[in-house]
Amino acid sequence: MRATALAHPNVALIKYWGKSDTKRNLPATGSLSVTLGGLHTRTTIEFSKQLKQDQLLLDGSADAAADLRMVRCLDELRQHAGVSLFAKVESANDFPTGAGLASSASGFAALTVAGAAALDLSLEPQELVRISRLGSGSAPRSLFSGGVWLDIASSPGETICSTVSEPARWPLEVIVAVTSIEKKAVSSTAGMESSRAASPYFDGWVGSHPQDLADGLSCFTDKNFMRLADVAEHNCLKMHALAMSTRPPLLYWSPATLACMQAVMKLRADGIPVFFTVDAGPQLKAVCLPEASAIVRERLQSIPGVLQTLDCTLGQGAWVESVVKA
Ligand code: PMV
Repeated sequence: MRATALAHPNVALIKYWGKSDTKRNLPATGSLSVTLGGLHTRTTIEFSKQLKQDQLLLDGSADAAADLRMVRCLDELRQHAGVSLFAKVESANDFPTGAGLASSASGFAALTVAGAAALDLSLEPQELVRISRLGSGSAPRSLFSGGVWLDIASSPGETICSTVSEPARWPLEVIVAVTSIEKKAVSSTAGMESSRAASPYFDGWVGSHPQDLADGLSCFTDKNFMRLADVAEHNCLKMHALAMSTRPPLLYWSPATLACMQAVMKLRADGIPVFFTVDAGPQLKAVCLPEASAIVRERLQSIPGVLQTLDCTLGQGAWVESVVKA
């Protein structure tokens, strides 16, 4: 009744910000991401008769904030297995947690896969998608490898997730410039809910999103890097414009984030195949073709306020590392 699973975080190139149904945690928009090989969440789950409640240890300390969402996922798994045992969940990241590096995505993907393995469940991939989504709207994408599409349109009220491009087919690289390891002040969940309620731009975001997503998907089909750069930066800046126009405002960037954006734009203007994206935190992710990674890394490391860079190739979906039966 104990299993360990690993998952990589992912970064959305066409993003999700806002829910259409908070109870079922349904995103208001689809999204397109890449899975970040090189960064890992490792999660061990043990179901036991000795436990009186579910417990979560995140990077070695109890985490109350993630508890409620975790229990929702565990409840779904228990229901499938027909058991009522509580679980002890130990999760650790080899990258900064809660700082805009998608630790909730890899966390809930690893939790779902480890929990299903511990309970000896063979669930369909789209059922794992549904369960992990209850924890985090970006988690289903970490169940899949390479370029990943989370589709909200083809089956209303549901989310369908799949790989659109395996890592070897289009081996993009991502260099993360870490500019702060502080936990963000406003979580994505809270931030996107206030944008929905209190930004005049929310309808424009949702209305213009399907075209960005269609464009992003066709760039993967054609392996068109420069067109992907254009639509991904546009979509990222539009998400941040929405966040900034929320009341009270959500400003996730640091001065170093902005300096990195400008450096990436300048590199691309000089013909280097690179573009940026930034999630709900101050880290910048520079997506590039392999031949550009050395120059991009060197440029980002020279920017004051960049604490470190992390190198990622495209990675695989969440996987089970070990299972121990009682
Ligand atoms: O999955 P959540 O609730 O942590 O929200 C993710 C939001 C962004 O990372 C900013 C965008 C995305 O699509 O991943």
